[in-house]
Amino acid sequence: MTDNPRVHLIHHPVIQQRLALARDKNTSVEHFRALLSQIASLMAFELTRDYPTVDVDVETPLGPCRGKRLAVELTLVPILRAGLGMTDGILKLIPEARVGHLGLYRDEKTLKPVTYYNKLPPDIANTEVIIIDPMLATGGSLNLAIDTVKKTGTKHIKILCLVASPIGIEVVTKAHPDVSIYTAAIDDRLDDRGYIVPGLGDAGDRIFGTA
Ligand code: PRP
Ligand code: URA
Repeated sequence: MTDNPRVHLIHHPVIQQRLALARDKNTSVEHFRALLSQIASLMAFELTRDYPTVDVDVETPLGPCRGKRLAVELTLVPILRAGLGMTDGILKLIPEARVGHLGLYRDEKTLKPVTYYNKLPPDIANTEVIIIDPMLATGGSLNLAIDTVKKTGTKHIKILCLVASPIGIEVVTKAHPDVSIYTAAIDDRLDDRGYIVPGLGDAGDRIFGTA
């Protein structure tokens, strides 16, 4: 557990119920994918709570009305592959968001992340960025992703993950104290292969059926 105000553990009962189903090793690929998408929508609702709005005038069938629209543009940056599993769910909520992609994989021996793809929108620095990865294990992948996004001049970055490890949270918050992390669970530990225990296994494999 953490008392860092930048770390948001989202306890919502519907999210927790969906997460328990996603953790279940007997959950099918199809169901796992649907669960991640649903959880991502629900978590994005919480993560976007403090984004500023501006007033807009609309005409209802009965007359003029003052409404709101988001005052910021959003860029979603899923870390490939597993981050893709939570991106659709957020786009259902905020279809105007643009999407940049970062391809990273963890070297199985060193557990260090390796970049194999980078396609970010040219104007990303003018937007609020949400970096998406269901698993925050050693923190290496997220730190590299945050470093990469910060190099564009981006100032406002939040992290959306599903399951985090205590050490991963410590590593990321130490390197990037300005970045907020939203997670649905903080699990016990990492095993000797760097997997989160109890976690949910290999998220990319479970989303894409590649186990
Ligand atoms: C997984 C996961 C994160 C990373 C987390 O990706 O989706 O990106 O590991 O580990 P870390 O916090 O120790 O860096 P993986 O490298 O397995 O690639 P994949 O999404 O393509 O399966
Ligand atoms: N990547 C995963 O997909 N799962 C883990 O538990 C750790 C890294």
